Amino acid sequence: MKTVVSGIRPTGNLHLGNYFGALKNFIKMQETERCFFFIADYHSLTTHPDPKLLGTNVRNVLTEYLAAGLDPEKSTIFIQSDQPEVAELSLLLSMHAYIGELERTASFKDKMRKQPENVNAGLLTYPILMAADILIHRPDLVPVGKDQEQHLEMTRKYARRFNSIYGVDFFPEPAAYNFGTELVKIPGLDGSGKMGKSEGNGIYLADTDEQIRKKVMRATTDSGPTEMNSVVSEPVENIFTLMNIVSEKSAVESFRTDYANCSIRYGDLKKQLSEDIIKSVAPIRERILEIKGNEKYLRDVTEFGAQKARESARETIKQVREIMGLRKI
Ligand code: TRP
Repeated sequence: MKTVVSGIRPTGNLHLGNYFGALKNFIKMQETERCFFFIADYHSLTTHPDPKLLGTNVRNVLTEYLAAGLDPEKSTIFIQSDQPEVAELSLLLSMHAYIGELERTASFKDKMRKQPENVNAGLLTYPILMAADILIHRPDLVPVGKDQEQHLEMTRKYARRFNSIYGVDFFPEPAAYNFGTELVKIPGLDGSGKMGKSEGNGIYLADTDEQIRKKVMRATTDSGPTEMNSVVSEPVENIFTLMNIVSEKSAVESFRTDYANCSIRYGDLKKQLSEDIIKSVAPIRERILEIKGNEKYLRDVTEFGAQKARESARETIKQVREIMGLRKI
């Protein structure tokens, strides 16, 4: 059994990209592995979110994780700030993290450009906190997207450095886990790039059937094929990619054939896609609505998750303190 750790920054509701790109795999993994899934609310603070909105976002992600099928009995689901041991590990790791390497991190340079008015120390030390999130449970695997690979590389570097400085074999060097060989990239509806949060580009797990139909109907296409067997343009290819995920193989093939012989009608293609998306999303949305109002259930889940996470975290902290020489008189 492998230990797996994954965090998500609570920035809003979950969309199909989150679901098919990661969450569905988490749901499978929890059956066989020892999984820690947490909501990285400390990390969110680097951009100074409105406190009320941060709370709402944390709650939404938790609700949607549970509604999609993450099981608090099978995996450890918790909120980062409910496990304050991670803040201590972050402090301890920071003693061996160099300012130069932090300043060279791509995400930091990116934020310097995007929010020059708020280049706070939390942004600089973001990779240390992330390393602490991961190493505190000493995992084998961390499922991450491309944009997080550098952070994971730094995590491994800090693990290696710690082991070598103190002459121990304590922290593992966790590997990136990409769910098979091909990274599933879920395209958006606006014709290019992956599904994200820009208006109308993403379909959310909480969307109603009507919202889904509307968004899909407005998805970008092109003026249609005019030659037999012509190359499919990017926006239309994106529609096919989404269909590959949610529709029957035979339906996709039939539309592919229609495209190749120029008889395709994008209206029909979109109708099929929206109905098939609804089939995947509607049951999750129903559960979101059920769970959302259940204060007690949500509180119980977070308390139970925090308890399990802290048990594992405390063991690591205890040993790290000893290794570094923080002993009681
Ligand atoms: N930095 C990650 C992101 O923005 C979120 C995250 C925080 C994370 N801590 C983590 C992911 C630990 C994996 C493991 O997506």
